[in-house]
Amino acid sequence: MVGRAKQKGLFEVETYNLCDASIKPTRRVDDKAYGMHWQVISPEPLANTLQQIFTKVWKTLPVVYMTPSWETLNQENVEQMYENIKEMVIICGHYEWIDQRIIDRYVDYEVSIGNYVLSGWELAAQVYIDSLIRNIPWVLWNTESLEEESFSKRLERKKEYPVYTRPEEFDGMKVPEILLSGDHKKIEDWKRENLR
Ligand SMILES: C[S@@+](CC[C@H](N)C(=O)[O-])C[C@H]1O[C@@H](n2cnc3c(N)ncnc32)[C@H](O)[C@@H]1O
Repeated sequence: MVGRAKQKGLFEVETYNLCDASIKPTRRVDDKAYGMHWQVISPEPLANTLQQIFTKVWKTLPVVYMTPSWETLNQENVEQMYENIKEMVIICGHYEWIDQRIIDRYVDYEVSIGNYVLSGWELAAQVYIDSLIRNIPWVLWNTESLEEESFSKRLERKKEYPVYTRPEEFDGMKVPEILLSGDHKKIEDWKRENLR
C-alpha cells in the first residue's frame, strides 16, 4: 500500500546520504563515544545535512529522531502528528546513537515504536512512516476502515472486534449467528460488545 501510494504521488520521501556531508576524507560519519565503547554519529554530517535540507526547502522542518528511550508511539500520537505536521525530517542511520548536541539543537520529536531495541533506525522509521501515511485520503481503498479500527476514536480507542468470512462453519467453529442475520442494529451492538 505504501508503495502504491508513493507511485500515485500521494506522498514523497527524499533521502539524503550522511556520508555526502562527512567532514572526513574517508566519508565516515561515526566516531567513538567519549567515555564509552560504542560508535555514534558525529554532529557535523547531521547538522550539515539538516542545514542543506532547510536551505533547499526555504524553511526549517520539524525533525524526528527514532529512539527506544522515549515515549512509545500510539494511535493518538500518530493522528496528532498527521493533523499537525505535513513535512518532516526523520533522522535515520546506524550505530548506537547520535551525538546528544544534535538532539538538543535540532530534534523536535523523539519517537519510539515500542519498548524493545532494534539494531537500527530503518525499521522504526518505516513503521512510523506507514502509520502516518495510511491516514492520507486514498492511500487506503476503504476509508471506513480508518474510522473504525483498533484504537480509533469511534471504537473508543479499544481493540477491534473479531471478524469472519466464508465458510459459515470451519473445523467445527461457526460464525456468530448475529453476523449472518442481516440486522444492522444487532450487528452494531454485537461489534460494541465484542471490542477487545
Ligand atoms: C541498537 S539501537 C541503540 C539503543 C540505545 N543504545 C539505547 O539503549 O536506547 C540503534 C538505534 O535503533 C533505533 N531504535 C532501536 N529500537 C527502537 C525503537 N524501539 N523505537 C525507535 N527507534 C529504535 C534508534 O535510533 C537507536 O538509536
